[in-house]
Formats: sequence, C-alpha cells, structure tokens
Amino acid sequence: MRRLYVPLAVLCTVMLFSAYAGVSAHDNTQPRRGDGWFKNRHMRESIAALVAQQRRGPVTITPTLNAGPSAALTATQEGRRLFEHETFAGNGRTCKTCHSSETGTVSPQDAQLRFKQNPHDPLFVHDGSDDDDGDGFGDGVHVTRMLDRATILMRIQLHPNVTLKNDPSARFVTVRRGIPTTFNTPAFDPVLMLDGRQPTLESQAQGAITDHAQATRPVSGTELTLIRNFQQQTARFFSSDALRAFAAGGPPPGLPLGRTASEKRGRKFFEDVPPDFSGPAPDFRPGFCSSCHSGPLMNQTNVFLPLPLPVGSRFQNVLVSDFNVMGNPVIDFVFHNQANDVFDGNPDGNIEIHSPDPGRALITGIAGDFVTATFDSENAFKISPLRGIRNTAPYFHDNSARTLEDVAEHYSQFFAVVLDPDGPGPAPSIQTLSEQDKKDIVAFLKLLD
Ligand code: HEC
Ligand code: HEC
Repeated sequence: MRRLYVPLAVLCTVMLFSAYAGVSAHDNTQPRRGDGWFKNRHMRESIAALVAQQRRGPVTITPTLNAGPSAALTATQEGRRLFEHETFAGNGRTCKTCHSSETGTVSPQDAQLRFKQNPHDPLFVHDGSDDDDGDGFGDGVHVTRMLDRATILMRIQLHPNVTLKNDPSARFVTVRRGIPTTFNTPAFDPVLMLDGRQPTLESQAQGAITDHAQATRPVSGTELTLIRNFQQQTARFFSSDALRAFAAGGPPPGLPLGRTASEKRGRKFFEDVPPDFSGPAPDFRPGFCSSCHSGPLMNQTNVFLPLPLPVGSRFQNVLVSDFNVMGNPVIDFVFHNQANDVFDGNPDGNIEIHSPDPGRALITGIAGDFVTATFDSENAFKISPLRGIRNTAPYFHDNSARTLEDVAEHYSQFFAVVLDPDGPGPAPSIQTLSEQDKKDIVAFLKLLD
C-alpha cells in the first residue's frame, strides 16, 4: 500500500493543477464563432447543399391525437405503440424519433439521411432546430446543427444556488447535448440523464413527452409505466444477449479477452488494477480507464481512482466542457452560497463559472469541487457505460467525438493535462498516450458487446 501513496498524491495534486488551469483558462474563454461545431468547410458546404436542395421553410405541425389503446393489445404491444407511435397530441415526435431501434440514438449521418428522405421529419423541429429564438428551444426553421452534430437544445432548470450573470432573473439555461443511447440504461442504470437529474424512468419519460414532444394532452401514470416496462424488457434495449441475460438474473458480463496483440494491450487499460510502480517512472496506463469505467456496465469508479470518492461513484469531469472543442457558446454562471469560495480573493460565497455546459453542477448547485478534489460536480457528467459502444457514435455529452479514435485522442489530451505536475508550466506531463496506445484502446473498445 505504501508504494501507492506518493504517486496517488501526485495524481491528486496534478488534478488540482488541472482544475486551476481550467478555471483560469475560463476567464479568457470567449465563444469562438465559426471555429466550433460548424467549422469544417466540407461539412458546411455539403450541409448547405442539402438544405438548399430541400428548400425547407418554416414548419407548422398540427397536433394529432393517436387512437387510444384497444383492449386486445398486450402490455408490450401497448408499450411499443407508446414509444414508437404515440405523439401525445404534440409536435409529431415520439420516443423513437430520437432513440432509434438500431442504435438507441441519432448520429449526424442518420440525421442527414432522414433529412434527405423527409425534411419535415419531426427530428428537426423545436429543440432539434438551430439556435434559440428566445424561448430556449430553437428557431424551428434551420437545421445545420442537427445535420452536423445531432445535438438537442436542452433547457435545464437552474439549482436555487445558481444564476446567470447576464440574466440574473432567469431560472432556466439552454445547453447543447447529444442523445444518449437507450441501450442498457433503462434496465440497469439508476442514474438517468447525462447529469443524473431524473429520479425514475417514469419522470424521465414524462419530461421527454412534455419538453421534446410538446404534449398537449395529459399523460397517465399507466402510460408511463408501460413505456418504462417496454424499455426494460425488450431485446432491442440491450447491447447484447449477454446483457439481456444479465438483466434476467444471469452472470455479469466480464471483459472480453481480446484476440490480437493490440486488443490484449488495449484490455490492460480496463483491468481493475492500480498503476504500475515497478519501473523507474510510474506507469499510469494499466487500469487508467477502469478507474472510472468499472463494473458490469463499465460506468462506475473502482477502488483505484485516486480521488476521495466512494467506489461505485458515477460522476466525473473528464474536461469535455473545459476543452469545448465544439466551440459551443460559453455561458457565465454565478454559484451562490459556496463553501469552496477560497481562491478569488473575495470570500463572499460566490463563485463564477464560465462553461458551455457545467453538467452535474447545475443539479447539485456546487462549484469549485477541485478544492475538495472530488471533481464530481463542476463540468462533471455521468460516467458513460461502454457496452455496445462501437454502435452508438457520436460520443461525449456534447457529441464532440465523432469516432472512437476521437475519444482516444481526447483522453490523450486529458492524460497530458491531469498528469502534468505544473499545469501549463515547463515540466512535461508524467505520462502521455502513444499512437499505439490509442490504437490499442480503440481496438479493445470495439470488442465490447
Ligand atoms: C428530441 C429528441 C428526444 C426525444 C423525442 C426523446 N428523447 Fe430521450 N433523450 C434525449 C436527450 C437529448 C437525452 C439526454 C438529455 C440530458 O441528459 O440532458 C435523453 C435521455 C433519455 C434517457 C436517459 C438516458 C441516460 O443515459 O441516462 C432515456 C431513458 C430516454 N431519453 C428515453 C426516452 C423516452 C422514453 C422518450 C419518449 C417518451 C424519449 N426519450 C424521447 C432526446 C430525446
Ligand atoms: C476520471 C474518470 C474517467 C476516466 C479515467 C476515463 N473516463 Fe471515459 N468517461 C468518463 C465520463 C465522466 C464520461 C462522460 C464525459 C462527458 O460526456 O462529458 C466518459 C465518457 C467516455 C466515453 C464516451 C461514451 C459515450 O457514449 O459517449 C468513452 C468511449 C470513454 N469514456 C472511454 C474511456 C477510455 C478509453 C478511457 C481511458 C483512456 C476513459 N474513458 C477514462 C469518465 C472517465
């Protein structure tokens, strides 16, 4: 045990450094227009062509009431109907509009195909259309963001501790988020939504029906239960037969062994082991990913994460909002009543945060968690499950990683920052990921069912 202490302390300290780096960098961060999600020229031109071809004008969708259930339908059939066809007299959307049968999500490629087939597909209305026209939910007309990044405008209620600097009376904020897959989550995950804000599948479905589908008729408790059961009991909501068997009481799935040398090397990042201190310099690569992606769903911390959090914790900051490679607009938040307000020279209990999406912090009302070295609130998100990951691109809460290769590249940057003893100073990072490491990680991720 003793050998562990020094490097773990180093990691904690460097994680603290990284938080400082993130916070001070925030002060200079401005929304970089034209340098974000819409920056790729080829993508910009092809989407412009697609949009021009379709000549899509403003859309008005007339609410239609679906026929009520027939007594002969079984509960599963009725659950399926509610998930796939019921619009609740709203904007024409159903759950399946955003959670497809094949992947449980929507990728930019899916969106582009659907736009070609039908530019009035309800995916593109409301929070699936381009930026805010004042109501926090999109302009209802333009579709470039959906076609390029497949993100949704999520309007999140602010915690009582939180206000917006530029609009102090606002009680909601709009952020851009990808659609998490409905693979495995309904059956296994008690933590729902990317920030964990929904307590049950029923409240989650009620929220989706109100916010995404703009329901104009009330939803019954029975309907919410049928939707929950359908998601928990139907094969297509599992990434593999092994996961389905696990939900039915079978054994938890283990890590695939890997066949090629690359897959076997990639596996080492996911084994529940501490860093290797046998060489002259500590090697943080063994067990690096499993410190957060452990357990049957690979979505919880293990005993080797060097932070003061219980094993099985579910929220962490892996610097996706901090790096903001999407160039999403950065929002100025003020967090009040903060016990951690010890660094800005003005201990008034207020901490300002500048972030495109502070994630979990909007729910907990806590900023400055780098002071407690927990990193589970500010810019923290639910630790994603990794089963079936090869089928559910794009990745991260803002869809900033289009491919698993992009994910590996992100972690290479993350590694370089959190293991850098003097932050942006002259000393190099203790460890980096090589090109081969990144290939090995991707090879192994592709094996996960
Ligand atoms: C407009 C697209 C859209 C529609 C329609 C939609 N969802 Fe979602 N769903 C999302 C997004 C985006 C999130 C994540 C939002 C967040 O975390 O803030 C999500 C999250 C979820 C989650 C939680 C996943 C997780 O990993 O925690 C479940 C379960 C879910 N939706 C089920 C449903 C059901 C059931 C319906 C229909 C009643 C539905 N969704 C309709 C976009 C949609
Ligand atoms: C400190 C905890 C932590 C570590 C270490 C970690 N992850 Fe993650 N991982 C997360 C969190 C939290 C998210 C969600 C982040 C977000 O969306 O902002 C995530 C998301 C992901 C995703 C995206 C999943 C999706 O559906 O969008 C992949 C893939 C992934 N991690 C793989 C890895 C790999 C590979 C490693 C090791 C190189 C690793 N992670 C190390 C916490 C961690």
